[in-house]
Amino acid sequence: MTDDDALREIIEGLQQAEKMISPKYFYDERGSQLFDKITQLPEYYPTETELGIMRANIDEFAQLMGPQASLIEFGSGSSRKTRVLLKNLIEQAVYVPVDISEQHLLESARRLRSEFPDLEILPVVADFTRPFELPSPTVMPLRNIVYFPGSTIGNFTHDAAIELLKVMHHGAGNGGAMLIGVDLQKDPNIIERAYNDSAGVTAEFNLNVLRRLNREYDSDFDLDAFTHKARYNSDAGRIEMRLINSCDQIVNVGTEVISITAGEGILTEYSHKYTLDGFAAMAESAGFRVAKVWTDADELFSIQYCVRT
Ligand code: AVJ
Repeated sequence: MTDDDALREIIEGLQQAEKMISPKYFYDERGSQLFDKITQLPEYYPTETELGIMRANIDEFAQLMGPQASLIEFGSGSSRKTRVLLKNLIEQAVYVPVDISEQHLLESARRLRSEFPDLEILPVVADFTRPFELPSPTVMPLRNIVYFPGSTIGNFTHDAAIELLKVMHHGAGNGGAMLIGVDLQKDPNIIERAYNDSAGVTAEFNLNVLRRLNREYDSDFDLDAFTHKARYNSDAGRIEMRLINSCDQIVNVGTEVISITAGEGILTEYSHKYTLDGFAAMAESAGFRVAKVWTDADELFSIQYCVRT
């Protein structure tokens, strides 16, 4: 995606009846650092819970995936979870991290190369919500495993999530599978706390998207006027994050002029939480069957192994 496409997409979002900015724009360098900080907050349960589930079941993961697999990761993140997998998979053939942030991606690929010198690592710079080409490894893998941890699937609305699962279905290819982290519905208080941390890191992360637009996309939002808001919408089963504006402002974005009234919000993120049945139905619509589900004792989070039907 070129900067022009991105600018066009950002303007389009700000011209909707409810203004919105896609959460993919959170992840500039500072945004990626702030997200790493979020994953270490006491209130943010998903990361540690998912890592715990992985550690408790890693031998079973490795058995299911079998030897000589190609691991294709959608959104390469900070790679803590990836390391657990890479250390434990059997005679792994190749690792293909796919990420929109080139710097972040190449940096983490470089670090992984020194830790796993025998592993072929083929990073792909791409927006994985759009079609992209997979690289050809030097040794043919026996199967592709698409890996999508962190419940990032939750950023997508129901229909967009199914579209993305179809892209993964395609990436898995014949005989392939998907290993995906899926956050579960639970006491809304636990969920709301995770997105309203007492240290204010999530608020900083949310506001940073406007700072980024001002710097990279030729806009002039008055940052001081915005505050972070995250609430759980239990009918829709999702966290909704917004930036709420406190005084009327006229904002230039590229060559467009956007007016934002006092009290108006900009939607910056959905984070859907699922029931096991709800996720299984979505996976099925994309051509997957849920073959195995692992959860923690409190059923906060799940990891699901889905095979092509
Ligand atoms: C990276 C999309 C999984 O939804 O929990 C964390 C992003 N936003 N705190 C999530 C996020 C605010 C995170 N995902």
